[in-house]
Amino acid sequence: MIRLDMDIKVIEQMVEQALKEIKAEQPQKFTMPKAELYGVFKTMDEAITASEEAQKKLLFSKISDRQKYVDVIRRTILKRENLEMISRLSVEETEIGDYEHKLIKNRLAAEKTPGTEDLLTEAMTGDNGLTLVEYCPFGVIGAITPTTNPTETIINNSISMIAGGNTVVFSPHPRAKKVSQMTVKLLNKALTESGAPENLITMVEEPSIENTNKMIENPSVRLLVATGGPSIVKKVLSSGKKAIGAGAGNPPVVVDETADIVKAAKDIVDGCSFDNNVPCIAEKEVFAVDSICDYLIHNMKENGAYQITDPALLEKLVTLVTNEKGGPKTSFVGKSARYILDKLGITADASVRVIIMEVPKEHLLVQEEMMMPILPVVRVCDVDTAIEYARQAEHGNRHTAMMHSRNVEKLSKMAKIMETTIFVKNAPSYAGIGVGGEGYTTFTIAGPTGEGLTSPKAFCRKRKCVMTDAFSIR
Ligand code: COA
Repeated sequence: MIRLDMDIKVIEQMVEQALKEIKAEQPQKFTMPKAELYGVFKTMDEAITASEEAQKKLLFSKISDRQKYVDVIRRTILKRENLEMISRLSVEETEIGDYEHKLIKNRLAAEKTPGTEDLLTEAMTGDNGLTLVEYCPFGVIGAITPTTNPTETIINNSISMIAGGNTVVFSPHPRAKKVSQMTVKLLNKALTESGAPENLITMVEEPSIENTNKMIENPSVRLLVATGGPSIVKKVLSSGKKAIGAGAGNPPVVVDETADIVKAAKDIVDGCSFDNNVPCIAEKEVFAVDSICDYLIHNMKENGAYQITDPALLEKLVTLVTNEKGGPKTSFVGKSARYILDKLGITADASVRVIIMEVPKEHLLVQEEMMMPILPVVRVCDVDTAIEYARQAEHGNRHTAMMHSRNVEKLSKMAKIMETTIFVKNAPSYAGIGVGGEGYTTFTIAGPTGEGLTSPKAFCRKRKCVMTDAFSIR
């Protein structure tokens, strides 16, 4: 006969053993992905957890390693087959922009985004010792990227954020899903093969508003960066977290009577038609002084502008390209001038790059940022009026403005009054992001939150390290 107290002990042991076995059999809540996934995860939570793990490793890697990873990103994008593939896929998937110009923009992002050299340490020494102020990582950054510049923004943000010691989880625009995945995988594969921690750059397989919300809410994401349309920028700015917002522009151009008009006309058409006008820095409306306005329009037409003079046709154009709210119709954003004219029943030859029309300053095409190569020209009595109208049309976005003039006083006046992050003098707008202009590039131009031209230090926290009574060698 078995004693009752023995029975209970045996039962307890059996239960303990069974529980151990059940625990061992249970799948882990989260299993790290196979390397083949290269940063693209089924769920947002998985993408963030993997990014957090990667950031812990990156935090303890050397600055020279971070620079090595930045160089790997540059080299990977600059490989001809990769550059061509992401540029082609971007246009095919989003149906926005121009392949040749995407090549230029992707190359620009890879070549001219600053690396770790951007993070300069400040040192203060004196009788009390040594204090350092250094640019340190935030940790995991959640970055929202647009449909207009999908790969350019991923390349640009990845370089800046990793140089700053951060890892990044992207939430790309759903209409740029495939090309964003392709770019993330391409970069992660190259980074992993070069010995970098896995998953420095991650994203969710199915980008959506829901997944973007999950990213915004996840406490492990320490900084939010949104490059996109007004509604997504507003969303991150009202999240309660530290956020960097890069949104709308509507960049004006002023041309006065002192300008080189022939050059100004060419520069304006070149800038306005670049990637079918989707860069947020591109010329969106012109204010020209009366005495040179006709000559400017003549030269714009010499350089690929098609002028609409018939009011009924202009009305038809406005109806065609605007939505019920009076903003741009999404299906026309980033389309070519020839495509738009074709929808109006006009066959234009291959030289046509921009559609122009003379309108009053109140016209919808002047006041709305259309992001298509439609360029209204407003005739004004003098340069001071032009500057004032330009200020009004920019709506305080403080994004980008251009001026063609040889009058230094008026150039300075406009630069001051506009308060834009980028001000381009006597050149196409794209000189402002480093195409034919000096200086580094960015595709996240953060006017609303004040960082302006983002670079690695914009994605860092300034931290102080203090050592008393030593290390001052003065
Ligand atoms: N992930 C998830 N959701 C996103 C998203 C992203 N990456 N980007 C935008 N969304 C959301 C928006 O918040 C919006 O949500 P809501 O309907 O709840 O308000 C919804 O998707 C539709 O937004 P969007 O695609 O912007 O609307 P649209 O189709 O009417 O507009 C554009 C298309 C191209 C006009 C618009 O996206 C735009 O203005 N882009 C410019 C981007 C840019 O280059 N900005 C300048 C950067 S310097």
